[in-house]
Amino acid sequence: MTRRQWPQWSELQPLLRPRAIQVDTTARRLARVASIRDLRLLARRRAPRAVFDYADGGAGDEISLRRSRSVYARVEFQPRVLRDVSSLDLTTTILGAPAALPLVFAPTGFTRMMHTEGEPAVARTAARTGIPFALSTMGTTSIERLAAEAPGSRLWFQLYLWRDRGASRDLVARAQQAGYEALVLTVDTPVPGLRLRDVRNGLTLPPSLSVKTFAEGALHARWWFDLVTTEPLEFASLKRFDGTVAELAAQVFDPALSMQDLAWLREIWAGPLVVKGITSAEDARAVVDAGADAVVVSNHGGRQLDRAPTPLEQLPVIVDAVGDRAEVYVDGGILSGADVVAAIALGARAALVGRAYLYGLMAGGERGVQKAAEILAKEVAGTLALLGVTRVVDLRPEHVLLRPEVG
Ligand SMILES: Cc1cc2nc3c(=O)[nH]c(=O)nc-3n(C[C@H](O)[C@H](O)[C@H](O)COP(=O)(O)O)c2cc1C
Repeated sequence: MTRRQWPQWSELQPLLRPRAIQVDTTARRLARVASIRDLRLLARRRAPRAVFDYADGGAGDEISLRRSRSVYARVEFQPRVLRDVSSLDLTTTILGAPAALPLVFAPTGFTRMMHTEGEPAVARTAARTGIPFALSTMGTTSIERLAAEAPGSRLWFQLYLWRDRGASRDLVARAQQAGYEALVLTVDTPVPGLRLRDVRNGLTLPPSLSVKTFAEGALHARWWFDLVTTEPLEFASLKRFDGTVAELAAQVFDPALSMQDLAWLREIWAGPLVVKGITSAEDARAVVDAGADAVVVSNHGGRQLDRAPTPLEQLPVIVDAVGDRAEVYVDGGILSGADVVAAIALGARAALVGRAYLYGLMAGGERGVQKAAEILAKEVAGTLALLGVTRVVDLRPEHVLLRPEVG
């Protein structure tokens, strides 16, 4: 039988000590976030529905999106024990320059729509974390402004090659002039993907005030307040555009894009050239032959061709096809540091994340992005230690088994 006694006041006192009240609601909410999935839930509460759905959703039935994520649930780590893991080294090199983590913040359009702090918040966090960030052609901060607002960061510029090649050439020249380190050509967008959530939500840029969005505004007053009290939301690299996302994309994307264009770009851009949106070994070989220094195995986060191959599953054959002629990165579905470790073990030099930091941005601006970066870094370190591996660069395919089934 349990023996009971009356507690002494001195024993109760430490239990009753009230925690300091945090008046800053963003700080309070972020303090309770333990994972990127938690950040996603917070983002869903803080951003208007159409905005959250734009970031969270994919194309068609979102089969690619779900597969890109669930493949990480098939990962079974093969740990070794009794290895001294008291000191860990998470660093690697990306495009020949040191990176504090094997991670890159992926290019995302419309970023200031998620939160008014937008791309500068992402670039500054990337700089603090010691990783590169790629500004999108559909970005909402100009090439020059971002470089000025995030000094000391490793900035890449992601290019959609427009129908108007002269305009593309201008963008490339501006990126070069502003000191961008690398050019990322995205090649999986001959036409815009069919994003059904955006159609259903009637998403436009800038977001327009319909009766529905107005009613929503009451629920997300802070977001609308930011929208109307800060500089207009527009594509900083494009002319002001009023229309749906799909209409804009149809103007910018060029269905005639071909391998010759890649060769042309190789001529006009002197720095490292990354080709993003590769899902087959043949294409990987071809773009490396045409002068790419790196490829991103990617299906655009499931936002373009639905039922496209799943990036993590394609990674090993592409790494094999490219050998040491180019670096190989992977993206799509990465929501934890353990996912990053699995991707590196299967042969990627670095993993790109899009939504992981966008959830942070929606949840709490720059502080939310910082939180996302901290979560990922901590999880990479924890996974590495439990795997019995001390250095990121020592990760090998034998550390990971892909089980046939999820679960
Ligand atoms: C809201 C959003 C906007 C995006 N915009 C672009 C873009 O402008 N250019 C591009 O190359 N990729 C774009 N992407 C794709 C990302 O660069 C990346 O491939 C994808 O987000 C990776 O999947 P993840 O979000 O699951 O990490 C976008 C992704 C999202 C979620």
